[in-house]
Amino acid sequence: MSSSLSHQGRVAVVTGSGRGIGAAIALALAYHGAKVVAVDLQSPNAIVAAIGRNAVGVAADVSDPDGWAAIARVAEETFGQVDIVINNAAYYPNHPIEELDLDTWKRTMSVNLDAQFLSAKQFLPGMRRNKWGRFVGISSNSVGLTVKGMSHYIASKMGIIGFMRGLANDVASDGITCNAVLPGLTNTVATQAQGEEQRKATWQGQAIQRFAEPEDIVGPILFLTSDDAAFMTGQALVVDGGQYRVG
Ligand SMILES: NC(=O)c1ccc[n+]([C@@H]2O[C@H](COP(=O)([O-])OP(=O)(O)OC[C@H]3O[C@@H](n4cnc5c(N)ncnc54)[C@H](O)[C@@H]3O)[C@@H](O)[C@H]2O)c1
Repeated sequence: MSSSLSHQGRVAVVTGSGRGIGAAIALALAYHGAKVVAVDLQSPNAIVAAIGRNAVGVAADVSDPDGWAAIARVAEETFGQVDIVINNAAYYPNHPIEELDLDTWKRTMSVNLDAQFLSAKQFLPGMRRNKWGRFVGISSNSVGLTVKGMSHYIASKMGIIGFMRGLANDVASDGITCNAVLPGLTNTVATQAQGEEQRKATWQGQAIQRFAEPEDIVGPILFLTSDDAAFMTGQALVVDGGQYRVG
């Protein structure tokens, strides 16, 4: 990773940063100069310790409006105005449609999609005052693939793309961009339940023939949250080694 301080002076909230892709994003943003508000169901102390004084941890459920109020309070008391929001936390149980109940459907929408809306309501006023802001919603390349038992998850991940597209229209005049990132299958706790054969079958469908590590996903997120991406908004960026091609 290059060591430019492209994110110096920015305050970034990263949800689900206790492990996996969220942890890699938090570490990368800090490495590039951002102050990081690391959010998870339990405060992500290991990541905060790894970053040091430029990180603060918050225990919050991203589906809960009170959780977002707590995130904002800690962020502002510790570092000031939030400039960047990475909505990465997710709920992803596998249930074929016959076994999918309404509570699971609602929880999936609440964690994966409501959080995007709640974060916008929480942080847009400050971003508008500053005339600068970045929202990145972590979607999934599964929206374009055959993945069984995930209709609720795929609906929520498609919803993230839709919300980023729509929100982009409402906030562009204040220097705020909104984009979705669609990772492919990545080596995290979320995919550990899959056997080696199943994982291999997936990455063999990629142009780049290997299993992604969380660090493979962060580069495009660094770009989207930098000044360099100021003219790029409402987009869905696929980061999956060339498995799912769009356009
Ligand atoms: N791993 C993959 O193969 C893959 C592929 C495509 C997309 N994604 C997406 O990337 C993101 C990160 O995936 P991952 O594999 O690192 O997941 P993970 O399960 O390893 O980590 C997710 C983190 O989010 C936290 N979290 C869950 N619900 C929360 C809530 N309500 N409030 C606050 N925190 C909560 C968890 O405690 C956990 O630390 C997710 O949005 C996922 O859908 C992952």
